[in-house]
Amino acid sequence: MMELSPTSLITIMGIRGDGKTWLSIALLREFLTVYPEHKVFISDPMNCYPLPDFHSVYTIEEAVDALINPEIRRIRYAMACPDDIETLFDLLKELDDIFIIIDESDQVFGRVNNSEALHWITHYGRHVNQAAILIARRPPSLPIDFTAQSIFCFSRVIEPNDIKYVKGRLGYEPPDPGQYNWYSVSVDGELTEIPSTWIAERN
Ligand SMILES: Nc1ncnc2c1ncn2[C@@H]1O[C@H](COP(=O)(O)OP(=O)(O)O)[C@@H](O)[C@H]1O
Ligand SMILES: [Mg+2]
Repeated sequence: MMELSPTSLITIMGIRGDGKTWLSIALLREFLTVYPEHKVFISDPMNCYPLPDFHSVYTIEEAVDALINPEIRRIRYAMACPDDIETLFDLLKELDDIFIIIDESDQVFGRVNNSEALHWITHYGRHVNQAAILIARRPPSLPIDFTAQSIFCFSRVIEPNDIKYVKGRLGYEPPDPGQYNWYSVSVDGELTEIPSTWIAERN
């Protein structure tokens, strides 16, 4: 199975309702069993992470306060506004030992495709234990240096452009994992199955 470390970079791509958010929750839960004290920040613009053990914030000011407060470890920024993401990333980049999840990333990075801070996290974040999961329907809208450096997760790929994208990544036609099952591809191109049952057990 896919194991995350405090320096993992992951892209999750899939159409609406295919289980992207569930996959990220399962990966996060698994990570927290090994690193229970680690600081986690989730940008949740659609307000769909049912995580009662997380401290929810609703404004950028609250998000910043929670991020710089060492007592608060698990933060969920519900209804996060895409306009805030630059501000958030400028701060996140300064934090050591942080696990970042950005749901609905394509909306965010469509606007700020050259985020300096994300670039920094992508290339140097591993030295200070920064990990990130970016979740998107269409990864071409994400910064290419992040997607190229990250583990790539996909479920059923239907759109011709998406098939082309995954094929480019794999070097061959993407297999069909079936509903709610996922594949991950390492940076070296190694393919691993993530069964829906494994994900469901952690949600
Ligand atoms: N592994 C799974 N096993 C069973 N049901 C799942 C699984 N993953 C997702 N689902 C179902 O699909 C719905 C949508 O999943 P979600 O992760 O919110 O999709 P997305 O984020 O891609 O839009 C969930 O509310 C759940 O009912
Ligand atoms: Mg979702």
